[in-house]
Amino acid sequence: MTSKFPQHFLWGGAVAANQVEGAYQAHGKGLSTSDAQPQGIFGGITPRVAGDSGIKDVAIDFYHRYPEDIALFAEMGFTCLRTSIAWTRIFPQGDEDTPNEEGLAFYQRLFDEMAKYGIQPLITLSHYEMPYGLTQKYGGWGSRQTIGFFERYARTVFERYKHQVKHWLTFNEINMSLHAPFTGVGLPEDSSKSEIYQAIHHQLVASAKAVKACHDIIPDGKIGNMLLGGIVYPLSCRPEDVLASQRQNRDWLFFGDVQARGYYPAYMQRYFRENGVQLEITDDDRQALRETVDFISFSYYMSGCSTADQAHNHSARANILKMVPNPHLASSQWGWQIDPLGLRYLLNELYDRYQKPLFIVENGLGAKDQVEADGSINDDYRIRYLNDHLVQVGEAIDDGVEVMGYTSWGPIDLVSASTAEMSKRYGFIYVDRDDSGAGSLARRRKKSFYWYRDVIRSNGASLTSGG
Ligand code: BG6
Repeated sequence: MTSKFPQHFLWGGAVAANQVEGAYQAHGKGLSTSDAQPQGIFGGITPRVAGDSGIKDVAIDFYHRYPEDIALFAEMGFTCLRTSIAWTRIFPQGDEDTPNEEGLAFYQRLFDEMAKYGIQPLITLSHYEMPYGLTQKYGGWGSRQTIGFFERYARTVFERYKHQVKHWLTFNEINMSLHAPFTGVGLPEDSSKSEIYQAIHHQLVASAKAVKACHDIIPDGKIGNMLLGGIVYPLSCRPEDVLASQRQNRDWLFFGDVQARGYYPAYMQRYFRENGVQLEITDDDRQALRETVDFISFSYYMSGCSTADQAHNHSARANILKMVPNPHLASSQWGWQIDPLGLRYLLNELYDRYQKPLFIVENGLGAKDQVEADGSINDDYRIRYLNDHLVQVGEAIDDGVEVMGYTSWGPIDLVSASTAEMSKRYGFIYVDRDDSGAGSLARRRKKSFYWYRDVIRSNGASLTSGG
């Protein structure tokens, strides 16, 4: 097929600090909320005690092995790598006056390594973690003070890396705080709706202040938001189901609406009133929110359905969201429903709504891999999943949607976020480590490694439609 992808389309992969780096206490790093969730987002909150350990403590040891990993990404032809900065490497407790130089130096080395190969960094300021100290001392994002701590952190890293990093994201999947409040906003899981939305409000203001800081400090930079693309379809064409799906989609589009338009959408007033949510929003907050993102980024793994019919409203937990299963779609080994067409649909919906460039910063298949006797890993299922989704990205581009790039999730196997498993593998590169932490950590190219290299080399022309 001829390429539908623009000439400077950014191709690459996406990881997050807490899922790859390990070295969780190295060189002055403080404990993060991720460190307090050794079993993953749904495994409960376990404050650490001396001597305990968890799979994320070492993860895939990217902190020490990044030169080897970046070389492998370069071999595939990556022009972009998304990762995050661990806030706790820079401000270990979150409220220090001065940053930790050793943490700053680590990311400087990492970005230098990427530059050697012409790989552009796309950096998330906060990917599912914040300093644990801020949750203990201030109540996380429940406190207004956290806005100031975050702004100081954002300004610090913008100043330090302004010549190395031109693409930034504020909060990973900012809309998931409603479903996982400790991970998202550092609040106890049983917090009330009012408490969660107030914390979300503080985070939205902080996001806008980071956008402003980026515009001030890096005039040739671009900064986006990051949404969990949790698109739902009506389970039937009954008007009640259509309305239910609109309502459910607004639960997450609300975040994009604020970040892309600069104010709260009208439909939230009724929602807040009917749900007893009272927010403290100051004039200064309203002013801050006006600084909007340059582009919209999102993750996309699956779609789901929504219905007003309580008898059929059996939502399955998938990713962070709960969605009613779609009878027309197959599922992954983890029950996530596979829907390549949904990606084209979502790209069109987001572009119609925001008229801003879009960036797909996560998409991929978590699956168990088999290492054959000859050492090969024939992950045809992953190739099929990614191929079919990328074909639909091409279709959306043909529809007229402006897409900046595509970074597949977990180009190298990593620790899964929701369940802290190694066996849920997303990578083109296999990492020898199992769920108990055993293994040499050696890296090995899978079949998909060569497939993705060809996709990038041909700028998408090697993709096969109709497969
Ligand atoms: C996204 C997160 O929700 O999904 C990633 O941004 C996460 O951090 C990814 O890893 C896949 O989820 P999981 O639970 O399979 O790791």
